[in-house]
Amino acid sequence: MQSLSIFLVTLVASAALISGLVIPKKQFTGHSVLRIKVESQVHVKALRSLESVHGILADFWLSPKKIPGIAHIRVTPDNEEKIVQVLKEVGMKHEIMIDDLQSLIDKEAESLAKRTVFKAGDNPSFITTNEYHNISEIHAYLDSVGTKYGYKVDSVGQSHNKLDLKYIRIGKNPNATKEVFINGCIHAREWLGCATMVYIINELTTKPDQYDDLLSNLNIYVLPVLNPDGYDYTWNKDRMWRKTRSGPRQGCYGVDPNRNWDYKWGVAGSSSNPCSETYDGPNPNSEVEVVNIIKFLTQHKNTIVSYFDIHTYSEDFMFPFGYAEVYPQDLTKIRNVATSAVNAVNSVNGEQFVSGSITDIVYPASGSSIDYTKGKLNIDYSYAMELRPDGNAFNGFVLPEDQIIAGASECWAGVQVAFRAAMNDLQATG
Ligand SMILES: *[C@@H]1O[C@H](CO)[C@@H](O)[C@H](O)[C@H]1NC(C)=O
Ligand SMILES: *[C@@H]1O[C@H](CO)[C@@H](O)[C@H](O)[C@H]1NC(C)=O
Ligand SMILES: [Zn+2]
Repeated sequence: MQSLSIFLVTLVASAALISGLVIPKKQFTGHSVLRIKVESQVHVKALRSLESVHGILADFWLSPKKIPGIAHIRVTPDNEEKIVQVLKEVGMKHEIMIDDLQSLIDKEAESLAKRTVFKAGDNPSFITTNEYHNISEIHAYLDSVGTKYGYKVDSVGQSHNKLDLKYIRIGKNPNATKEVFINGCIHAREWLGCATMVYIINELTTKPDQYDDLLSNLNIYVLPVLNPDGYDYTWNKDRMWRKTRSGPRQGCYGVDPNRNWDYKWGVAGSSSNPCSETYDGPNPNSEVEVVNIIKFLTQHKNTIVSYFDIHTYSEDFMFPFGYAEVYPQDLTKIRNVATSAVNAVNSVNGEQFVSGSITDIVYPASGSSIDYTKGKLNIDYSYAMELRPDGNAFNGFVLPEDQIIAGASECWAGVQVAFRAAMNDLQATG
């Protein structure tokens, strides 16, 4: 009997090992990331034509900002030569920013293996805000905080793979007439974004005296991981995954959930190719995650006065619109708040975030979250941030854990400026 159970245990263990080998994690050996100087309109055109003219589905880590600017592209052993050729043709200079992406990912994995894992039922004080946590840990943390402090934890709905889009509502008065909403990780690989949500929840719950005005006057919704399928995939299968996990369509999975919102959908800066990183989907609101968040925000549109969508990276503080060089009618108001917010961000650690409308900073891209919350839901203070690092860094999305607190506290400093402006603005309506 004993030998049988040992046999069974061994069998199960080796089956697990084998299944682990059957679907291995994607390797990035031989992948590098290029930092490219974008100095003219011709250069911009060349980068934008990689897909449309040359049929190269490049992974832009950083899309070009207004010239003179830079772009970051991950190149693979398969497409490196072709991309470098295009750069040469138009005289674009580049340098190697990351030589071997896999070695950076391996280093990160070593660090992750040493983290303090947050388990279901743990006291929220066990959370380590200076480490990354996977989707189970983040959701367990929300539950623990909700239980300990009596805050509502719920889900706006589920993802394609049936994971909850879980949020917490923080505030002393659940019937507050004004509400604010913030989410991270609509793009899966932008880990600092979700880590920042954990940081914010920890701040609000462990230092209530410091945030008494916000807690007394607002319901603060924090939804750490808006794309849980993708986030889970970055932890277990492909560290560089960005999109959702719907599909396959033409053999490729996922839609860019920040090109999929049903406001001026498909107008600019998105792709209709399901294999592109900026695929906008077969139709607007095709992604269940986008549908569910929109349903929630629409139900609360008369009370939500500020919406934040947190991304990485390139250090920007942006307001609508992104679909074209069009500005909202309350431009002066929201631009002034963005200016104050970015000053607050930069005063934390001396970084150099810039503020502006999306198209002030980058080339047009439609179907994004804040175009929708501003254009369709009239949420006055709708902002998106791109956190650390800046374009000169060498690590991009694979940001070392020792930068989480610095990055999260910068973000939170800016978000608070907008939340307080919205809270104190008697005209602000959702
Ligand atoms: C998260 O990490 C913990 C600890 O390694 C593990 O037990 C759990 O299965 C992980 N969850 C997911 C969804 O990967
Ligand atoms: C909030 O409103 C509900 C329903 O109107 C009411 O039952 C509850 O007592 C109110 N809570 C507070 C703290 O005012
Ligand atoms: Zn993003």
